[in-house]
Amino acid sequence: MGQRVSKSLQEKSKEIIIVIKTILVTGGAGFIGSNFVRYIYNKYPDYKIIVLDALTYAGFIENLPVDINKENGDRLSFWYGNVKNGELVDTLVSQSDVVVHFAAETHVTRSIYDNYIFFETDVLGTQVIANAALKYKNHVERFIHISTSEVYGTARSEKMNEEEPLMPMSPYAAAKVGADRLVYSYWATYELPFVIIRPFNNYGPYQHLEKAVSRFITSCILDEPIRVHGDGSVARDFIFVEDTCRAIDRVMHADIEKVKGEIFNVASEHHRTILSIAQDVVRMMGKDESIIKFIGDRPGQVFRHTGDIAKIQRILGWSPEISWEEGLGKTIEWYRKNRHLWEKQLWMRAVPIITKSGKRELH
Ligand SMILES: NC(=O)c1ccc[n+]([C@@H]2O[C@H](COP(=O)([O-])OP(=O)(O)OC[C@H]3O[C@@H](n4cnc5c(N)ncnc54)[C@H](O)[C@@H]3O)[C@@H](O)[C@H]2O)c1
Repeated sequence: MGQRVSKSLQEKSKEIIIVIKTILVTGGAGFIGSNFVRYIYNKYPDYKIIVLDALTYAGFIENLPVDINKENGDRLSFWYGNVKNGELVDTLVSQSDVVVHFAAETHVTRSIYDNYIFFETDVLGTQVIANAALKYKNHVERFIHISTSEVYGTARSEKMNEEEPLMPMSPYAAAKVGADRLVYSYWATYELPFVIIRPFNNYGPYQHLEKAVSRFITSCILDEPIRVHGDGSVARDFIFVEDTCRAIDRVMHADIEKVKGEIFNVASEHHRTILSIAQDVVRMMGKDESIIKFIGDRPGQVFRHTGDIAKIQRILGWSPEISWEEGLGKTIEWYRKNRHLWEKQLWMRAVPIITKSGKRELH
């Protein structure tokens, strides 16, 4: 069957013999997906990675760790296609030992403006790939579904653990709840080895400019005003993308008995307001705070998110390793050095919506 994991990993977890050959990554040309592909590609030279991505406005072939025109396909192959295409998904899942499902429409504001494709991709796309995992259950050792903290809505407790009620506040969040519960039902019904991961807000290299941290940084580089929704008091738990990749790696290599049917938050356990993030970016990039401008608040806004990571710490020994200051510094450096990669997204930054106060605005 598959190959064994690299020697160093075997030494760390001697009691587990993990046999992994091929990993299918959906949405691997997007932000977190491409960081994950790069992480696995560099860490596990024995693994084969298959990327399936529809290259929507948010996916870029240049995000992958190799030039796929030159790569011979032995270690990393790219399939341009849609997760809703059952024929293609069956073909790829049937060759895979592990599936990591990132592919989704992901921009909250865009889901307020036009949500049809969110339900199509996030819910029906997940159904297609979960059905394929069911069909090839003798081959697929585990299916890791990437859900999101947005499924919880605004925090009701100091820190939100995996038992927090699911109260989605936007069409994006509702679509992700649909996918999350669909995957859970496949575990409950068919006892298939599904694991659900709920990352909190990620930031880092390769993030689309429609998201707050990358937009703030690139606005500073371009000498533009920084646009902050409402009064900037909404708060989120931000986690550096490499820490998320390490968490998924832990789930991928854990004893399956410890993780199947489980849900894991991936967070920093600290929340920070969007205004304080804008101020940190401005300070670290040597700009004046007067460039921060306030625009109308987004409807369906989540007021605060703070994750509880006790479960993943206890079961898998994972904790974040990169501090906010360090992660933000690395992210700023990446955007400074890679203008050629993000410049082509400039036209996609603004979405027309009607704000809480009823005004029509570009967000
Ligand atoms: N970015 C975050 O802060 C965050 C936080 C929690 C969870 N998540 C989840 O993590 C996953 C990845 O998020 P991201 O920020 O990297 O998103 P992203 O928008 O940067 O990337 C999404 C990728 O999916 C691809 N895709 C979209 N529709 C597809 C389809 N129908 N078929 C195949 N590929 C398709 C896109 O081309 C793109 O490459 C998503 O499931 C998202 O809900 C993201």
